[in-house]
Amino acid sequence: MGVLEVLTNCFKTVILKVFEALRVPVVGYVISSSSEIVYNILSKLKFGPFSAQAQINRYVEDFKLQREWKQQQVVEQPTLVAIVTGANSGIGYETAKAIVAAGFHTVFACRNKSATIQAIESITTELNKAGSAIGSCEFMELDLGSVASVKNFVAEFNSKHDRLDLLINNAGLASALSTTTADGIEVCFGTNHVGHHVLTNGLLDVMKKTPNDGVNNPRIVFVSSTAHYNAKYDKRLVTDPNMRVSFANYELSKLANIMCANELSRRFYEENPNNRITVNSLHPGIVYTSVARHSELMKNRILNFFYHSIAIGPKAGALTTIKLALSSQVSHTSGKYFERELELSPSAISQNPETWKDLWRFTEDLIVSHAV
Ligand SMILES: NC(=O)c1ccc[n+]([C@@H]2O[C@H](COP(=O)([O-])OP(=O)(O)OC[C@H]3O[C@@H](n4cnc5c(N)ncnc54)[C@H](OP(=O)(O)O)[C@@H]3O)[C@@H](O)[C@H]2O)c1
Repeated sequence: MGVLEVLTNCFKTVILKVFEALRVPVVGYVISSSSEIVYNILSKLKFGPFSAQAQINRYVEDFKLQREWKQQQVVEQPTLVAIVTGANSGIGYETAKAIVAAGFHTVFACRNKSATIQAIESITTELNKAGSAIGSCEFMELDLGSVASVKNFVAEFNSKHDRLDLLINNAGLASALSTTTADGIEVCFGTNHVGHHVLTNGLLDVMKKTPNDGVNNPRIVFVSSTAHYNAKYDKRLVTDPNMRVSFANYELSKLANIMCANELSRRFYEENPNNRITVNSLHPGIVYTSVARHSELMKNRILNFFYHSIAIGPKAGALTTIKLALSSQVSHTSGKYFERELELSPSAISQNPETWKDLWRFTEDLIVSHAV
């Protein structure tokens, strides 16, 4: 992270605040998004010690050094356990690779077994070639579009593991119109938000019970998107099939990721002001992955070409998640939103505790009414 990141975030903050005050936040969102495009193009020029891989290596090495130092001081360190959802491709793949390199036993929580086994093989081969000690990998099936599948995952995880140090809620899709999950919930909201809501809540007990290893606190990271700035908190987008409009459902699901992270953080603090679990959310950047493969927008050749030209690679796209997962700089930071490895103000609506609570109730009701 450097001057480019600081400048982009400062510019974005000022523009968003000015246009929010002028009551035209959409204009602010459009102008600030253009700063991200400029950032992306300039950041493609980074190489050597400034490259995304070099920065990932720094996060991993710093993390390992801290643990080794502690190991010399006290007792043997336990093997830390992490879960990364959607670890078989894109940003999740690069994130999981860094988490394994940092020494975690990493559960790849994915729905496609063969793609995940391939991803695990490729990560293990690459890291073994590099020669330093690494963690281990495990595939566990998880379909976030099915509450039953999420509950099975939680039960299986709890039967196999007695600690969870890191949960990365990364999986997501930007889908075509009018489809629903296996439970009949609008597919973006159902997968990106409801699935992760059920997963995270199911894993809270094991996280709370996770013994302190003397260095790290348990962390939860939600991968949201800058698309949330444009989101309307309108529940009819979920409940009324006639209201499902284009990108609006994706935007709402990404707003929900931030609100869910903030509400969880608030609940932890309310339960115990000294609680150790942190929860944060982030935008990974405009990243060249297959996230929009179901999107009608991406069928437009011009838009698709534009997307590929201005997008950063998945390694650069994984940097903010990796920082929130590993860096000691954020070990006591909770309920915050990040872009380009730096904290930033999310949209005004995502900072309103009343909407967090409302979303929580709405989600719980939705789960009950759609239980299969
Ligand atoms: N790429 C961007 O420009 C961008 C921008 C902002 C935010 N994001 C966010 O970044 C995250 C990662 O996306 P990406 O860009 O890396 O895209 P990606 O390469 O398509 O990865 C998405 C992952 O989510 C998984 N997934 C989708 N539906 C699932 C379900 N029902 N159950 C379990 N896993 C499921 C996919 O599994 P399958 O392979 O089985 O489909 C895949 O592993 C998403 O949350 C996305 O919203 C991306």
